[in-house]
Amino acid sequence: MKDPGKEWYALTRRVRVMVANPKVVDVSKINDYTDLANPSLKGKVCLRNRKSPYNQSLVANQIVNIGQSKTKAWLKGMIANVSQPFFPGDIAIIRAVSKKKCGVGIVNHYYVARMLDGINGRRDSLYAKRTSVITPNPAHVNISAGGVAKYAKNKSEAIQLLEFLASPEGSKGLAAPTFEHPLKEVNQNEIVKNFGEFTPDKVTTEDLGINNPLAIRLMKDAGWK
Ligand SMILES: [Fe+2]
Repeated sequence: MKDPGKEWYALTRRVRVMVANPKVVDVSKINDYTDLANPSLKGKVCLRNRKSPYNQSLVANQIVNIGQSKTKAWLKGMIANVSQPFFPGDIAIIRAVSKKKCGVGIVNHYYVARMLDGINGRRDSLYAKRTSVITPNPAHVNISAGGVAKYAKNKSEAIQLLEFLASPEGSKGLAAPTFEHPLKEVNQNEIVKNFGEFTPDKVTTEDLGINNPLAIRLMKDAGWK
């Protein structure tokens, strides 16, 4: 979770989960991202648009995990199940799932947690309560990261800050209020704990970067808007 060239360091972790409405889809039949390609979910899948780095990384992750041809088949099936416009953000997807505009979508876990907590207001917390979070096993984990800008004026202070934020104490402090996970251990907030344990897969952040251009091309080819 750091750049081999030491240009950036992970600070917190985020799990890319699925959010579903049990009144629209059979939650017990959805365990993995690849299940979203099942023809039984026709018209029931909501996705954020192709520009989202979260989704680009998810696709890059699948290229590493299941290979290019299986990723292509997954994308083809999943995109065929999308009937709604492609959404600009993860929160919009959670609202759409809750309002039964679709049955299942892919989001970062902390968006659901923040909505449940009421950070976005009462209405969003009610929306989030009508949904279930499904954590694939293993799960795709993305990160927030930091680095020092090339022309930073206070370089040694910047390095000190970065070292603190990447430390167990700093990472915990950064992740707690945003409902993300620290680099080591997990967020202890009950809302996040309720999403269940997760096992990160073995794909490195560097791998996600290397496969990013190919991921974007496959998404485009599959019709991911
Ligand atoms: Fe985010």
